[in-house]
Amino acid sequence: MGRKTSPMNNTSCIVTLFMIVLCASNVFVCRGEWEPTWSTKAAEEAEAVAAIACSGHGRAYLDGLILKGMKKPVCECNACYGGSDCSKLLSNCSADAGSGDPYFLEPFWMERAASSAILVSGWHRMGYTYSDRTYISELLVKYIKKFHATVGNAITEGKYIIFGSGSTQLLSAAVYALSPTSSHSPAKVLATAPYYYVYRTQTQFFNSRDFSYEGDTSLWKNKTDKNSLFIEIVTSPNNPDGKLNKGVLQGPNVKTIHDRAYYWPHFTAIPSPADDDLMLYTISKLTGHAGTRFGWAIIKDKAVYEKMSTYMDVNTMGVSRDAQLRALKLLDVALEEDGKQIFQFGYSTLRDRWIRLKKTISKTKRFSLQKLSSQYCTFFKKERDPSPAYAWFKCERKEDKNCYKILEAAGINGRKGSLYGAEDRYVRLGLIRSKDDFEILINQLKVLVAKE
Ligand SMILES: Cc1ncc(COP(=O)(O)O)c(C=O)c1O
Repeated sequence: MGRKTSPMNNTSCIVTLFMIVLCASNVFVCRGEWEPTWSTKAAEEAEAVAAIACSGHGRAYLDGLILKGMKKPVCECNACYGGSDCSKLLSNCSADAGSGDPYFLEPFWMERAASSAILVSGWHRMGYTYSDRTYISELLVKYIKKFHATVGNAITEGKYIIFGSGSTQLLSAAVYALSPTSSHSPAKVLATAPYYYVYRTQTQFFNSRDFSYEGDTSLWKNKTDKNSLFIEIVTSPNNPDGKLNKGVLQGPNVKTIHDRAYYWPHFTAIPSPADDDLMLYTISKLTGHAGTRFGWAIIKDKAVYEKMSTYMDVNTMGVSRDAQLRALKLLDVALEEDGKQIFQFGYSTLRDRWIRLKKTISKTKRFSLQKLSSQYCTFFKKERDPSPAYAWFKCERKEDKNCYKILEAAGINGRKGSLYGAEDRYVRLGLIRSKDDFEILINQLKVLVAKE
């Protein structure tokens, strides 16, 4: 007779075998502990780069170091800092208040290094489409809807959502979709000054037979042109002045694109959820990841949605799947505690910057800033102070027609008012950049104001 095995022995034998198979096939648990196999090196590289401090005045990135055996840390220094570890403060350096790089949120993400990290395999989503044969992650659509419902800044029910490589691409898709095709009368694209200059430059660049940039809405407000279709682009809150703008033109031949890039509680009070026909949002200003190039449009009308989808298919076959994965992860973290952490952090950072800037400028009558007031915010459930993304800085003296030059001479680089369709006595100063950039800006302004 053979040896009798107990059922217990059989079970433990199967479990052991199973463990061996799992361990051998590099899956997950060995000896009660999770043991990474292929991800170890990638994790080590990511940690090694993140550990490089660059003296707190710069950043080392994975694509700037370490890969392919490069072991020398490469710091990319903030403006006005230099040296291999960014510890050198450069003299005679101008403040960079130009672009809207949203580095103000970088400390938020650094505090959440663990929860916001993603590690992807070399075979992550290699195909053109998701399994439902679309270019759009359904899960990400769900997250976006959930995000808007939680924040209360947009109504998405019964509407269509499409993705773009930033809202910049969606803007182009929207202008295309709202324009008549092969008509003798191209759609007139308009905005109200001061406006985000890309509306003009993009429309002119694409130089289509179906639409053309026709300047400021004020030129068309009281004119009747029944044969033309108007596309008004409304930015709310506005870039550059932070005002909660509304459309100026009305009527059956007016279509409106609402650019809602800044309609988030770090930049503005949210009086009510936006419910416009065509709204553009972007992760660039929500989480601060402008480099991910991810935006979305919320569209009421099916025909417009279909035309925009066609544009996206023909143009790029949708948005990078890697960007969609990153967006999903970032939104998941940003949604923690119903978004309270990210919006509280963003709001208090920008509010403090605005208070300090106002205080600095208040010492002279030569300069002024846009007027913004406190407003009730349905997200914070209280009155909140202004916290704009940009200062719309004005040189008040009659002779100071070129404010950009005055600031430039004082070591401050902003953006000229004429870029935004306004006078050059205005300059846009970015307040959403890094702490270093803001501190240098304030210091240079203090010096300029003290000379008065
Ligand atoms: C009003 C406005 N819309 C759109 C954009 C572009 O956003 P994205 O990075 O999503 O292309 C910006 C960027 O500064 C902006 O200020």
